[in-house]
Amino acid sequence: MKIYGGKTYEQMSEKAASVIAAQVIEKPRSVLGLATGSTPIGLYGFLARWYKEKYVSFAQCKTINLDEYCGIGPDHDQSYAYFMRENLFDQIDVLPENTNIPNGLNPDAAAECARYDKVIEDLGYADVQLLGLGNNGHIGFNEPAAAFVPGVNHVMLTESTINANARFFASRDEVPKSAYTMGIKGIMNARKILLVANGAGKAEILEKALFGPVTPEVPASVLQLHRDVVVCADEAALSVISQKHPEEIEWFR
Ligand code: GLP
Repeated sequence: MKIYGGKTYEQMSEKAASVIAAQVIEKPRSVLGLATGSTPIGLYGFLARWYKEKYVSFAQCKTINLDEYCGIGPDHDQSYAYFMRENLFDQIDVLPENTNIPNGLNPDAAAECARYDKVIEDLGYADVQLLGLGNNGHIGFNEPAAAFVPGVNHVMLTESTINANARFFASRDEVPKSAYTMGIKGIMNARKILLVANGAGKAEILEKALFGPVTPEVPASVLQLHRDVVVCADEAALSVISQKHPEEIEWFR
């Protein structure tokens, strides 16, 4: 595992974007595993800028997103499909038909999970899978649970996640109660994992995930078992790790 620390969100975002850009420059037909949430917005901004400056093209890439809320469609401004168009897809040259996101409007959960599992398998898993980190250690929408769930699954969101995501909706009641998410198998089969975290609110959970016991109660802890994990975080998110494991961080500020 490699942990890169930057002083600011901007620096962290630039570093994380460079990992994805390097992947695409080296292998233009890359499969990119993508994530939503507020953390990746900055890095998507850098990718969009570098595309416009002609440093990188996504024309041959395929993408697989981690997750989508159930019960809202791609035109809802809080759907992850909408988020991806706004923050990345409409800014770069990826072909819409090469992008994949679970269909939150499919009421048949078993069918949707099976469909999306097949999409991921047929693409041969991601070359690089970007991940944010939930306040409770979730990755995608794999919430703390008694066991890791391998396949794409329909998950009931925890109170903590609903509360955390309520800031994006008009009211807490509007936050969907469930989601479809890539499972742990899809994430762990990615050739490289890029985990991003910023802000003091992530400091405790980031340390637990990277240095605590591997347990489904902290879903991100499973990443300790992956052979190629790159973490990009800002100083605030690294405040606990820099106390307990300072030698593990490579600062690039
Ligand atoms: C959501 C997403 C996750 C994301 C997490 C953290 O619940 N499903 O993929 O990593 O929130 O979000 P943020 O980056 O806004 O802290």
